[in-house]
Amino acid sequence: MQLAELNKVEALNKTALAMVAPGRGILAADESTGTIKKRFDALGVESTADSRRDYREMLFRSADAMAKYISGVILYDETIRQNAKDGTPLVKLIEKAGSLPGIKVDKGTKPLPFRPGEVVTEGLDGLRERLVEYRALGAKFAKWRAVIDIGRGSDAAIPSYAAILANAHALARYAALCQDEGIVPIVEPEVLMDGDHDIDRCAEVTEWVLKTVFEQLYYQGVALEGMVLKPNMAVPGKKSGKRASVEEVADKTLRVLKACVPAAVPGIAFLSGGQSDEEATAHLDAINRAGPLPWRVTFSYGRALQAAPQQAWSGKPENVAAAQRAFGHRAMMNGLATAGQWKADLERKAA
Ligand code: 13P
Repeated sequence: MQLAELNKVEALNKTALAMVAPGRGILAADESTGTIKKRFDALGVESTADSRRDYREMLFRSADAMAKYISGVILYDETIRQNAKDGTPLVKLIEKAGSLPGIKVDKGTKPLPFRPGEVVTEGLDGLRERLVEYRALGAKFAKWRAVIDIGRGSDAAIPSYAAILANAHALARYAALCQDEGIVPIVEPEVLMDGDHDIDRCAEVTEWVLKTVFEQLYYQGVALEGMVLKPNMAVPGKKSGKRASVEEVADKTLRVLKACVPAAVPGIAFLSGGQSDEEATAHLDAINRAGPLPWRVTFSYGRALQAAPQQAWSGKPENVAAAQRAFGHRAMMNGLATAGQWKADLERKAA
């Protein structure tokens, strides 16, 4: 590698390490306009540019939670351009709290031809130009989410290698473009927990997906030192009759990650994927208790960090303080879990 390239990787590595700093994790607040509308509908709140801004401003102004527990925030295109009510750019609020702004850059999923039921994430066209613009707006890292489903019943055709490869290739193309533009890529291959599969099937598919992703990252020249992996945990599908204990989830998740994720990767920041708040925290905690691990292991939660504050806020300005307390509590619980220091008792004391 040339010296200039080495310096670039060193800078990316520094940002990646800051994203997974001990005790802290990432707030995924990058819901698309459609997804945030669904969340607001459930609360009976109208989704407008202003209400979305008010809600997210409430989170970013949770000074204590942001400063202590949130290393970075993933934003959506609309949000990275928005100003707080007093005219301060939301990006500046995040920076002032000592957190890093990031941006979702994928354009969502489309059906994959000839593979009914499977999807591929789009958004590579024009991506370099968008990254340059986002960098100027303050983004230090980016996110791209690939989605892999697991077939229902005994349908072994899903996932297909065609879907895994297409998605892994797109993730690697995205990650290489990000690094070339000095932005740390969050590489997110999400194996969904929607099906009726058991935990072993989830672990098996996750292993296949991660092996393929790291092979594609290698072929595209991605420096593992300058990225963060955002995987799912190994969990049973929501419609599976079988449950798994916290210990089993931690054990099976770690077995897959140790077999697939090189130690050069600075950090792993899990998605919550539909787990309850407390489950997502308990699992992260158990995984970190099983350390020492080759990488820092933290959270990059969307739903599992926001469900409680959303409920408390419910679109009312007079609820802002209560919503910020709810967010602060969840962030602190997850912060403790990054060190394996969470206890279920702490949840009950707060309730
Ligand atoms: P969840 O934690 O709600 O899965 O969201 C994380 C995320 O960013 C999904 O892309």
